[in-house]
Amino acid sequence: MLYVGIDLGTSAVKLLLMDETGKIHKIVSKEYDLFFPHPGWSEQKPEDWYSQSMAGLKELLSECDKSKVAGISFGGQMHGLVILDKDDNVIRPAILWNDGRTTEETDYLNNVIGKDKLSEYTANIAFTGFTAPKILWVKNKEPENFARIEKIMLPKDYLAYKLSGVHCTDVSDASGMLLFDVKNRCWSKEMMEICDVKESQLAKIFESYEVVGNIKPEIAAELGVSENVKIVAGAGDNAAAAVGTGTVGDGRCNISLGTSGTIFISSKSFGVDSNNALHSFAHADGSYHLMGCMLSAASCNKWWMEDIIDTTDFAGEQKAIDKLGENHVFFLPYLMGERSPLNDPYARGTFTGITMDTTRADMTQAVLEGVAFALRDSFEVAKSLGIKIERTKICGGGAKSPLWKKMIANILGIKVDVIESEEGPGYGGAMLAAVACGEFASVEEAAEKLVKVIDTVEPDAELTAKYEARYQQFKQIYPALKPVFKALA
Ligand code: XUL
Repeated sequence: MLYVGIDLGTSAVKLLLMDETGKIHKIVSKEYDLFFPHPGWSEQKPEDWYSQSMAGLKELLSECDKSKVAGISFGGQMHGLVILDKDDNVIRPAILWNDGRTTEETDYLNNVIGKDKLSEYTANIAFTGFTAPKILWVKNKEPENFARIEKIMLPKDYLAYKLSGVHCTDVSDASGMLLFDVKNRCWSKEMMEICDVKESQLAKIFESYEVVGNIKPEIAAELGVSENVKIVAGAGDNAAAAVGTGTVGDGRCNISLGTSGTIFISSKSFGVDSNNALHSFAHADGSYHLMGCMLSAASCNKWWMEDIIDTTDFAGEQKAIDKLGENHVFFLPYLMGERSPLNDPYARGTFTGITMDTTRADMTQAVLEGVAFALRDSFEVAKSLGIKIERTKICGGGAKSPLWKKMIANILGIKVDVIESEEGPGYGGAMLAAVACGEFASVEEAAEKLVKVIDTVEPDAELTAKYEARYQQFKQIYPALKPVFKALA
């Protein structure tokens, strides 16, 4: 049988067609616009997600035996607020995960309601990108829109709704709304009250590997597939990527270098970071995970390459980098503020240490290293909780760079396992569809059978020591600049 995984990303929707042996038959990608209406704001049109996903599905399925398509599932950008009115119209553009407009609402939740209460109700505190502060923002700043809200959704759930007609979400994505009681896998009554939201406005909750319904007959006809195709709940993109890289069960790690950068640690049991610097979310395999999320990762490199030095030859630029561990230039990757572990929407990107002999290659190197150093900040939080990580999987666009993988292995001092398919969320989405359709008994079984490690990047003792010294210097830059960033905001 054939399974479709839809990775609803921030720059594009990537669709993947997989069979029951895990073989990828085709991958299609369709881009859409990202809008920054004010500095620090970030929006997209849910209608674009849907039209590009439908165009992508048609192309993806154009050469296969369509009668074999059994299930469709998702890995979607998390936290985005999608609101629909009573006629199913999108009320306003979606406010995305990397949007920093909700500083007032986030401060209200963390300081007036209180971080301890939020953590008790949801296992997490408020961050500007989370969904609950955005709901409060719409209530405060756009009351006429707030009054029209019939349904509140997350990005991938909007697609699932358009395809199945079922108002659904899954436990992993719901975890990032700050409306969800992660430990008990249900909506939090306290948070609904705090956000002035009724349960009828929220979606029905599913485990990620559960069928939410059949594809709508008119969509089945448009795509030329059977009306029995199952729409499967899917997961937030990080949990889906974790499934796609086999990061399931206990104590496994995955790093994703996409628009965002995340470090994801799977766990069989529920646990909370006492400082809430790491998110505590439900996992798509039926258990839990901890996660640190930086808001700009591969997007820093894309920005530097395409917008600043005007090239698309990423590999060519990286060839000139030959002084690993010796760069005198540092880059703070906070182009959209920063989430984990700083929780500072006012943080900004900087280059520090530039001199007359600084080269273009030094600056490119600093960008790549800056992202790895910032990931190390979240890694350090995990270590401080007593979590031992010796190796990680890696996925996302940035994982295609051998140099970046080497930097990560040496800056974090861990082994980096390279897997056959780096298509994290799309592959994970297709695997979740296969589990829901009965192809595998569990997500863990699917991961064991389908995910293959093909190489390991080992840290080198000498380089790790050099990078340790650089990391200690990197760590001093943000605290020194923090008051400047605040003053500039
Ligand atoms: C996770 C997060 C990002 C988005 C990116 O908390 O905000 O990784 O899911 O798509």
